[in-house]
Amino acid sequence: MLFDFGEIEPKERYKLLVSTITPRPIAWVVSQNSQGVLNAAPFSFFNAFSGDPPVIGIGMGSHSPGRPKDSRVNIQETGQFVVNLVSEECAQLMNVTAIEFDYGVNELEQAALTTVQSTHVKPPRIAESPVAFECELIQIVELGTSSGLLLGRVLAMHIRDDAVIDPGKHYVDTPKLKLIARMHGANWYAKTSDLFKMDRIPVDDWKRDHDRP
Ligand SMILES: Cc1cc2nc3c(=O)[nH]c(=O)nc-3n(C[C@H](O)[C@H](O)[C@H](O)COP(=O)(O)O)c2cc1C
Repeated sequence: MLFDFGEIEPKERYKLLVSTITPRPIAWVVSQNSQGVLNAAPFSFFNAFSGDPPVIGIGMGSHSPGRPKDSRVNIQETGQFVVNLVSEECAQLMNVTAIEFDYGVNELEQAALTTVQSTHVKPPRIAESPVAFECELIQIVELGTSSGLLLGRVLAMHIRDDAVIDPGKHYVDTPKLKLIARMHGANWYAKTSDLFKMDRIPVDDWKRDHDRP
């Protein structure tokens, strides 16, 4: 079935995109305004876009026309933020921080989360989260009148000790992190425990097996 995005409403386009581009990892963002008031919120328009430089991107919308998400306001003000990843154990706590509180409400307190001081940026990370990235803002790409893509450079990252197999080789036990991801509809999530392995095919193997030069 064809859905022509020129002929349907923004809400319907959104519905179609988020019902199909799944699973999406969740950036659990901690930011701080210039007065030091903390803020936390989840964003699943999120991914990594480059290893060198190490760049992540987050799509942030608005609560209502002219009222951008508090996370964006803070990051625009200070240029710093921490992206925490969400494990199965953190799911309910993450959900509390997604409540549409007024600006200035510290969602970390509301969810009784523990913070740990960062090493390179002012906003702290979330102790309950198994992975955290300390980031500085590179730029905000404006998307229409109510959304923006925030690009951040990762300055340092933290991984829960028991999930690091070999620090020297930078081997991580990813399944042990039990990260969750956003699925379709408003409230569906995925666990990352249903895995399969598929090796890449070297081009020479492909040519040999298919008798091509
Ligand atoms: C799992 C999950 C993913 C979300 N992803 C996004 C997103 O990618 N972009 C967005 O603007 N809002 C997203 N939201 C909604 C925000 O978390 C919510 O509006 C929150 O109140 C924003 O907080 P803030 O104003 O303190 O930044 C998501 C909510 C949940 C529960």
